[in-house]
Amino acid sequence: MAHFVSSTRDIPATSALPRHVAIIMDGNGRWARKRMLPRFAGHHRGVETVRATVRGCLERGIEYLTLFAFSSENWRRPEEEVSVLMQLFVRALKEEVTKMHRNGVRLRVVGDLSRFDPELRALIDASEQRTATNKRLILTIAANYGGRWDILQAVNRALLGQPKKSRELTEGDLASHLAMSYAPEPDLFIRTGGEQRISNFLLWQLAYSEIYFTDVLWPEFDAAAFSAALLSYQQRERRFGRTSEQLLASSPPVGPPTGTPIDA
Ligand code: IPE
Ligand code: IPE
Ligand code: MG
Repeated sequence: MAHFVSSTRDIPATSALPRHVAIIMDGNGRWARKRMLPRFAGHHRGVETVRATVRGCLERGIEYLTLFAFSSENWRRPEEEVSVLMQLFVRALKEEVTKMHRNGVRLRVVGDLSRFDPELRALIDASEQRTATNKRLILTIAANYGGRWDILQAVNRALLGQPKKSRELTEGDLASHLAMSYAPEPDLFIRTGGEQRISNFLLWQLAYSEIYFTDVLWPEFDAAAFSAALLSYQQRERRFGRTSEQLLASSPPVGPPTGTPIDA
């Protein structure tokens, strides 16, 4: 398994283009309400934004895109809304996977999938398997995901692999058991919809991510809005605890992996 640098222990290589973008897709309900539409209409439109965002990542050569689709707390919503979200997930998997596969997208779903119905679980399995050898973009959908669930399951699995009291767990032991151990930590975390909170998303991995909050509602998060987020990212200085002077004295950052310019 690939081992990535932990940003609190080592300094990851950075570039003008984030390798990994993680997004809380928020604001579907408010988008619908503004138009006097039912909430599900917002979720439907939200799927189109997912499609456009995947395309945006492919065009730019972003390697990892992680989307928060359903949190472990979203079960608290009205039953009909939960059911619409599940149906949408099933439909999107059925309709989109062929195109994703053609475009070199590898799909992964992280979260506690045990609570999903067998049809959805089988579809997730089949979609992951079908796209398993693709490398151009790793698209992760976080579904029934919670950052605390992730840390706890990682600790528990790390402890299981530990002979009794041999030594204390290290960051590496824990990180290698997180649901997304296959990906580097997100460079850029985006939340649409105006709220400025993490809502139990990737708690461990966001330690040194650049955070970008926008009021744009998810159904309206278009190519220009994505470019604005990437431009904001490009203008930041990622110090990882060091001083600005230290950064200036060290070698310049490496360019984007594909050399694809960002149309900001
Ligand atoms: C995000 O949009 C979608 C999910 C949480 C599944 P919301 O449904 O939270 O939209 P708002 O926040 O009510 O506008
Ligand atoms: C976070 O959005 C979860 C997803 C986008 C899937 P919410 O709309 O559920 O977050 P809160 O409850 O407002 O924090
Ligand atoms: Mg919301």
